[in-house]
Amino acid sequence: MDKLVITGKTPLHGEVTISGAKNAAVAILPASLLINGFCTIENLPNISDVKLSCTILEALGAKITWISEHAITIDSRNITSTSAPLDLTSKFRASYYLIGALLGRFKSAEVGMPGGCKLGARPIDQHIKGFEALGATVDVIQGKISAKADDLVGSSIYMDIVSVGATINIMLSAVLAKGTTVIENAAKEPHIVDVANFLNTMGADIRGAGTDVIKINGVEKLNSGFTYSVVPDQIEAGTFMCAAVASRGDLIIKNCITKHLDCISAKLVEMGATIEDLGGDCLRIYCDKRPSKATVKTSPYPGFPTDLQSQIGVVLSTSEGTSIINESIWESRFQYTEELNKMGAKITAQGKTAIFEGVDELYGAPVYASDLRAGAALIIAGICANGTTEVYNLEHIDRGYENIEEKFRKIGAKIERISE
Ligand code: UD1
Repeated sequence: MDKLVITGKTPLHGEVTISGAKNAAVAILPASLLINGFCTIENLPNISDVKLSCTILEALGAKITWISEHAITIDSRNITSTSAPLDLTSKFRASYYLIGALLGRFKSAEVGMPGGCKLGARPIDQHIKGFEALGATVDVIQGKISAKADDLVGSSIYMDIVSVGATINIMLSAVLAKGTTVIENAAKEPHIVDVANFLNTMGADIRGAGTDVIKINGVEKLNSGFTYSVVPDQIEAGTFMCAAVASRGDLIIKNCITKHLDCISAKLVEMGATIEDLGGDCLRIYCDKRPSKATVKTSPYPGFPTDLQSQIGVVLSTSEGTSIINESIWESRFQYTEELNKMGAKITAQGKTAIFEGVDELYGAPVYASDLRAGAALIIAGICANGTTEVYNLEHIDRGYENIEEKFRKIGAKIERISE
C-alpha cells in the first residue's frame, strides 16, 4: 500500500502546469468509438482513469497507439464486441459513457454498472430516460445495463435534474440518430462543451453546448483521421488555487482557462486572496494573510463545483471565523471533514451542511482519502499543517490527478510517496 508522507507548514510558491481535464477525457475516449475510423487525442491527463478507459476500449477491439505520454491514436474500425466487462467498468464512474457511444454506433450496448467515488446515491435514471426517448429498450439485469434499438430517432428530452453524465451520454447516443434531439435543462460544465467540440470535430452537428438547451442534428457519417486536444482541467486548477490560499502561498497557474475558474476565483477573492489574470491561459493567485470566513453552496456550473468542495473546506478550516458549506449535489461528500478533525479542525457535518469553526493551525496526522477530491484536500491539509501527515488510499487520488506529488514538490511542498 502506498502512502504520501508530507512535512507541513510550507507556503507554496512557483509555477504549476495544469493537465488535460479528467472528466472530459473519460468521455472523449469512449466517444471515439462512434467513428468507423481513427483519431488522435492530445493533452490527455496521465491518470489511472484514462489508462482504464483505454484498456476497456482495447477489450472491445479498438487499437490504441501511444504517441507520447499525453497523446494517443485510437482506431475504432474493428470493434469486435459491444459488451464491456463488469470487472473493468465497476472501477470508475465514466464507464457509463460506453453505453451512449456503443448504442449510438451499433444500436446495442451491454455495460457493467459503473463504479466510482462513493458520494451517496448515484442513479442513472436520466441517462436511461434519454436512451428510451431515442427509441432504445434499456434493461438493468445482474449488474449490467443492456440497451438495444432497431433505430434511434431524435426526440425532445427534458432532464428532471441537471446531470453532467446524462447530458453527455444523450449527446453520444444522438449524434448518429435520425432527426433532431433536443436536451432541455442540460448541464453546462466546461467538459460538456469540450465533448461537444470533440464530437463536432468528428462531424457531428451539435449546437448550444454550454447553455441549458442543446440541439443535436443527427448525421449519417462521421470523419476519420482528425486530431483533438482535451481542454485544461478546471478542477485541477481550482485544487491548486485552494492550495495556494490554504498555504498562504503565491502560485502561477499555467494552462488553465480563467473563465472556467470564475466560480472558484470569486469565492477565494471574497475570502481575501488576490488573483491576477496574466493572459495566455495563465493566472497568479496569492494570499499572505488569514482568509476570512465564507458561505459556500455547491451547484451545477457556473455555480461553485462540488468537485472543489473538499479543497475549499481545507481553506475554511483555518479561516477567520465560522464558515458554512452547503453541498447540494451529493448526499455524502463530507467524509473528509472527519479526517480534517483528526488534524485539529473543528468541523461539524450533518446531512448536506457542514459548519467550519476556523482554527489557528492544523496538525499532522495519518488520514485516509475517502474519494478522489477528498484525497486532494487531505494533501493540501498536510502541506499546511504543523508536523507530518500521512495520506492513505492513494488509488482514489491517482484516478484523477496526474503526478500530484511531483507537481506539489515543484512548488515547494515536502511530499514523498512511500510504498509499504
Ligand atoms: C460528474 C462528474 C463528478 C461531479 C458531478 C457533478 C464525471 C465522470 N464525474 O458526475 O466528478 O461531481 O458530475 O458535477 O464527469 N442524478 C440523478 N439521476 C441521473 C444522473 C444524476 O438523479 O440519472 C443526480 C445525482 O445523484 C447527483 C446529480 O444528479 O445528485 C448530479 O449528478 P451528475 O451531474 O450526473 O454527476 P456525474 O455525471 O455522475
